Amino acid sequence: MKKRILVSGGAGYIGSHVSVELIEAGYEVVVADNMSNCDTTGIEGVRKITGRTDIPLVEMDFCDAAAVERLFDDYPIDAVIHFAAFKAVGESVAEPIKYYRNNLTSFLNVLDAARNHGGCDVLFSSSATVYGEAEQLPVTERSPRLPATSPYGNTKQICEDMLRDVTASDPSIRGIALRYFNPIGAHPSALIGELPRGVPNNLIPYITQTAIGKRACLSIFGNDYPTEDGTCLRDYIDIVDLAQAHVAAVTRMLEGRMKEGYEIFNIGTGRPVSVSELVTEFERVNGLKLNYRFAERRPGDVTAIWADTALANEELGWRAKRTLAETLASAWAWEKHLAGE
Ligand code: UD1
Repeated sequence: MKKRILVSGGAGYIGSHVSVELIEAGYEVVVADNMSNCDTTGIEGVRKITGRTDIPLVEMDFCDAAAVERLFDDYPIDAVIHFAAFKAVGESVAEPIKYYRNNLTSFLNVLDAARNHGGCDVLFSSSATVYGEAEQLPVTERSPRLPATSPYGNTKQICEDMLRDVTASDPSIRGIALRYFNPIGAHPSALIGELPRGVPNNLIPYITQTAIGKRACLSIFGNDYPTEDGTCLRDYIDIVDLAQAHVAAVTRMLEGRMKEGYEIFNIGTGRPVSVSELVTEFERVNGLKLNYRFAERRPGDVTAIWADTALANEELGWRAKRTLAETLASAWAWEKHLAGE
């Protein structure tokens, strides 16, 4: 019998790419989403890419404990991958209650339902934001977590701790937290990708929207950082590579290969790229010129962060494969697909 994976927030950017890779690896998938930050493009794309028109989309809110219990009653779940959360850093500073209520309650409900249904494996979608402005680079999973600089970042830290404590108290629940660096790009089919509402906060959607003419000019936030070219350094990880890390982590849990009840892995490429380099590479790969200017630093940005990926490489048997050029081409193909080109 195929194992069934519940993908909470599975209609969104990361969730849709993970759903595709899970199905292609032979898993059954149940997508559940409250559709608060996406439309049906993601799930439709997943069905089209995989040819599986029967993939269920359960429209529900993970803050509704009774609804989460019902979901676990309706489907036997072997593992949960939990994406359902709010993710805008700036908004979380303005509306902390909204963020704490949503991101913490939904994960508590998942953990509670897992426990009430005899346990299951839980993969939590965490972030490199937990490292803050790290003193030593690259960061390993043993690098200190610094006090979060936003409620969003704090919810990632608290959810990691919730998973650690629940797995320690209940052997029927095992957990992995994946700390993502900067996920970018789109599926090679260009049928799914990032679909930001309103003005994008993140760099790549801003770049592609500027290139297509939806935005007049990209602002590069800060060129006076203590880096070679003065712009920030990040570890940009291809979305399909990132999705495949989830398959590796879920399989490790389901096959009982974990070394502890709770494990953490960095998911990145291990390679720092500056904002200026990224812009130049985007222009080169896609054969276009981008309108950009240097602007003030954005409050809350760290100078540099990139991953030590040795643990994920060794333990998950996973590594990022796609080149930055391929990834940037996929991001542009997706933007053009959205524009109907
Ligand atoms: C941000 C969040 C992080 C979250 C991640 C999700 C902050 C401080 N951090 O990471 O917590 O997990 O998104 O994807 O918001 N940039 C520009 N111009 C733009 C947009 C971005 O120059 O219009 C620069 C930023 O200054 C940064 C880099 O591009 O140096 C990447 O920015 P972004 O894509 O927003 O990701 P992070 O800030 O690294």
